Amino acid sequence: MSFDLLAPHYHWIEKIVFGDSLQKCRIGWLDSLKDAKRVLIIGEGDGRFLREFLRANPLAVVKSIDFSRKMRELAKRRMEAAGIDGKRVQFQTGDIRKLLVPEGTFDLVITNFLLDCFDEKELQPVIALLSSALIPGGLWVVGDFRIPSISAAARRARWRLRMMYFCFRLSTRLQTKELVNFDPLLASHGLVLLKARSWQNGFLSSEIWKKRKLQPSERAPAIEQPDDLSPQ
Ligand SMILES: C[S@@+](CC[C@H](N)C(=O)[O-])C[C@H]1O[C@@H](n2cnc3c(N)ncnc32)[C@H](O)[C@@H]1O
Repeated sequence: MSFDLLAPHYHWIEKIVFGDSLQKCRIGWLDSLKDAKRVLIIGEGDGRFLREFLRANPLAVVKSIDFSRKMRELAKRRMEAAGIDGKRVQFQTGDIRKLLVPEGTFDLVITNFLLDCFDEKELQPVIALLSSALIPGGLWVVGDFRIPSISAAARRARWRLRMMYFCFRLSTRLQTKELVNFDPLLASHGLVLLKARSWQNGFLSSEIWKKRKLQPSERAPAIEQPDDLSPQ
């Protein structure tokens, strides 16, 4: 699976399919994230969210991990073009399923349209890892697709998702076939939903989840040791 081929075309394809809605969804909570100082972004993509986030949060420093070298290059170029100090972002190319991230380190985690890339089996360790990276009280912004509750909108959303997974399979070899409901997994790893906003009749959603302090009796399952710890 690689987003390298898609990376230079991602922007304009998104514009045709979603207009401005996806970007509105990504930046929907910027005003509520002003206190964030140490931020972890997984699957940032081509840097359009990152640029807006860093402009809005002049004190924040970001670690950005993405699987795709091409996406990382685009994001880096976008930061340079915007005159953003390169020291504020540490870019890493790597697969979050095979990396370790430092525990209890970040006050904000961002995943925009990343969780939809994983099936249920993959999601469990990814959510465990990202939850463990957050400090207690830290926030996690989840921007992603959702199946709306209204039945006509839900039917349309399911159809659109089928088409999107098919196109992603062709362009990136993504193997995931359907959207997992990640709410129970987030909740089971100590996250509580604080706020949610949606666009396109509930098809696009951006949510702020907060990590509560876990009691010793409800510790999250241990994270499996990955085979390959080296950054790619
Ligand atoms: C669907 S794109 C979303 C990009 C962007 N965040 C957005 O809002 O449109 C998924 C992004 O996550 C990255 N990605 C997918 N699986 C990943 C993984 N296992 N580890 C790290 N990055 C991953 C891809 O390279 C791509 O940049």
